[in-house]
Amino acid sequence: MQNLNDYILSHLEPEPEYLQALARKTHVRLVNPRMVSGHLQGRFLKMLTRMINPKNALEIGSFTGYSALCIAEGLAENAHLHTIEIDDELKDFIHENFKNSPFEQKITLHIGNALKIVETLPEIFDLVFIDADKRQYWEYFEAVLPKVRKGGFIIVDNTLWNGKILQPVQHSDRHTQSILDFNNLISNDKRIEQILVPIRDGLTLIMKK
Ligand SMILES: C[S@@+](CC[C@H](N)C(=O)[O-])C[C@H]1O[C@@H](n2cnc3c(N)ncnc32)[C@H](O)[C@@H]1O
Repeated sequence: MQNLNDYILSHLEPEPEYLQALARKTHVRLVNPRMVSGHLQGRFLKMLTRMINPKNALEIGSFTGYSALCIAEGLAENAHLHTIEIDDELKDFIHENFKNSPFEQKITLHIGNALKIVETLPEIFDLVFIDADKRQYWEYFEAVLPKVRKGGFIIVDNTLWNGKILQPVQHSDRHTQSILDFNNLISNDKRIEQILVPIRDGLTLIMKK
């Protein structure tokens, strides 16, 4: 598996320098740098964005802005991304990272709880990327679904949750239980079509019918 991964990485479009710098700074400054989408998933998000060609895109969970910049890179000329981050201490760092990229004008950062902010956004979205608190995945999904156009897409990160979805769930492990519940609920949801793609920690692609 590691060999296949190396092979894929060795044939991947190079990571832009501003994203390499963002990832380095995230490792130096923050305690949870592994939350960054990273090179492979970032390029995949850019490609999915190109394929979907959204006019309006939304991200829940900006962290330091890596995935937002990958989505922004895939956007057409007149398209826009809204990204929401609950941790106000990240605000300046995120803005700094957007400024150091060619895509600052394409992104609006909202600081606050996505469950509150989403309902204030007037846009109908063609693409939503959910990558925030795993315990709230179902709430984010229900909050954004009415705001996604028919035929639009929701991409959800970490749906394999490091393989923990296959193991007995510890009573106190609400993250794993929430991902399990989310995966079960959407696989029986007639409003959508979905597929779980085993890239990195699992990305579920959802289309609103
Ligand atoms: C896994 S990180 C996001 C990583 C980022 N998408 C990337 O790939 O670089 C999850 C982020 O969601 C944020 N978050 C958690 N709950 C949230 C909420 N209710 N609304 C908005 N952001 C939230 C966290 O503070 C954290 O920065």
